[in-house]
Amino acid sequence: MSFHASPQATSASEILLHVSHIVKAFSVGKRLVPVLNGVSLKVSEGEVVAIMGPSGSGKSTLLNCIGGLEPVDSGSVTAAGVQMTRLSAKNRARARRKTVGFIFQSYNLVPYLSVADNLTVTQRLSGITPDLNRADALLKELGIDHLKRLRPATLSGGEQQRVAIARALLTDPYLLLADEPTGALDSASWNTVLEALKAQCKRPGHAGIIVTHDPTVAGSCDRVVLLRDGRTRAEITEPTTQSVTQALAQLENEAESSPRGDRSYDTTSHNHAVPPTDTAVEQGR
Ligand SMILES: Nc1ncnc2c1ncn2[C@@H]1O[C@H](COP(=O)(O)OP(=O)(O)OP(=O)(O)O)[C@@H](O)[C@H]1O
Ligand SMILES: [Mg+2]
Repeated sequence: MSFHASPQATSASEILLHVSHIVKAFSVGKRLVPVLNGVSLKVSEGEVVAIMGPSGSGKSTLLNCIGGLEPVDSGSVTAAGVQMTRLSAKNRARARRKTVGFIFQSYNLVPYLSVADNLTVTQRLSGITPDLNRADALLKELGIDHLKRLRPATLSGGEQQRVAIARALLTDPYLLLADEPTGALDSASWNTVLEALKAQCKRPGHAGIIVTHDPTVAGSCDRVVLLRDGRTRAEITEPTTQSVTQALAQLENEAESSPRGDRSYDTTSHNHAVPPTDTAVEQGR
């Protein structure tokens, strides 16, 4: 394992995802709450990067910005050769459908459709004929083929999570963005799921990001990036469960010794629309 204070550069020819200095704040009433404060990240083809950090550190927001679901205030995202942050909302949605596969923390299944229809609905709405053999194979691989006629409400959390995973894999995305994809799974199924996700990301021209709170999941990825208060704080290459656990403890200790206080600021008394960026993130490159 090696531990770095800032993200490492990877060979430019292999980069599938390049995130540069993303800044994002949310308006809450009259206040702007800064969530991402200059996050930079590179992911190479074939790589599976885990993102970890305390609850509220901005992990889901980062995935949403990378995948073009949330516009950024500043910074850029280039995924599979497409500069997502330069596109209009409409073109971003189109690019996202081709490039990105989301596995949402909240699953986002359509309640009135069966499991089988949930798998294919996104493609059908985009005018794409889904590969039904592949859909069946994914349901089998993830151990939920016996549930295909049921509706999501009748499934357990872990079963719903696997449906969401199968739906994302069916579109064969270049970039897989998985938000706590094993959070509701028991130990028997999380390994199967993780292997399916990794197999997708290891294909030529593909890669993935997995947000997780689980050091064992992160320890089985190629690299781990630690986020706190909307900034990348450290990176672990060749991670193990133990090294990830240690790094998380260190992150927590640092947080305790530097309390952040109230992050929001009043938009009526400040000139900037966004909080200052953390340019230090890429300076180590
Ligand atoms: N649409 C929104 N409007 C206002 N604030 C938001 C919005 N979305 C997220 N936030 C805030 O941004 C911060 C980061 O949220 P985010 O969901 O990215 O955290 P997270 O790291 O994914 O947390 P968790 O581990 O609990 O899933 C939180 O304080 C949250 O309340
Ligand atoms: Mg989250």
